[in-house]
Amino acid sequence: IKKVPLFAQLNEHQLNALIEICTRRTYKSGTILFQEKELGSVFYMVLSGSVKIYTTSTSGEEKILTICKSTESFGELSLIDGKPRSASAQTLEECTLLTITGQSFLDLLRNHFDISLGIMQELSNRLRDTNQQVYDLTFVDARTRVIKSLIKMANSHGLRKGTTIVIKLVLNYDEISQLAGVQKSTLMQVIRDLEEKKILMISPSEFTLELTKLR
Ligand code: CMP
Repeated sequence: IKKVPLFAQLNEHQLNALIEICTRRTYKSGTILFQEKELGSVFYMVLSGSVKIYTTSTSGEEKILTICKSTESFGELSLIDGKPRSASAQTLEECTLLTITGQSFLDLLRNHFDISLGIMQELSNRLRDTNQQVYDLTFVDARTRVIKSLIKMANSHGLRKGTTIVIKLVLNYDEISQLAGVQKSTLMQVIRDLEEKKILMISPSEFTLELTKLR
């Protein structure tokens, strides 16, 4: 819990008090933690693994908004504004998560300005990221969006090896297209092209991205 940036300013005593009000649980890969429009009751922090945050259209199509990884948190919006969940959350791999009830979360915000500031910074990051996504979906071509999504995946699940990045595949092809906001057929076309140009090497469990050829 000490590694969670949100709680970096808490002293030992405060951290111990926090641990008392947290519940720790391990979830299997693919567990739906909550769905959009449900009432929110808890705040989540990721200790290990990763969680996809996504929204679903009336026809059942999904758009991944973000991937939360270790030390990141989610589920604060509905606790702060009392409205239903703004998106759904599902584990992408086995995850250990900490939860705090809505009431305890609001008490933390009231009593610790640093935690409130941390949440504000997190919300600011999300707004900036969402603005970037609106920009990309409005002005940027599909091929570039796919490449940007590969870079996002590299940031959350990549390991740098010389001039390459090895990306652990926690998303399947449907999910990668939902992250990029492109049709699956477009994703497959771009991936085939990147493979032909030796920019991307594909194996069942990982992608390897050659950075020197990426532009
Ligand atoms: P809440 O609305 O309670 O439940 C869904 C959560 O997903 C939300 O809180 C945020 O923590 C998170 N979330 C919603 N929209 C976005 C977004 N655009 N980018 C990142 N995270 C989001």
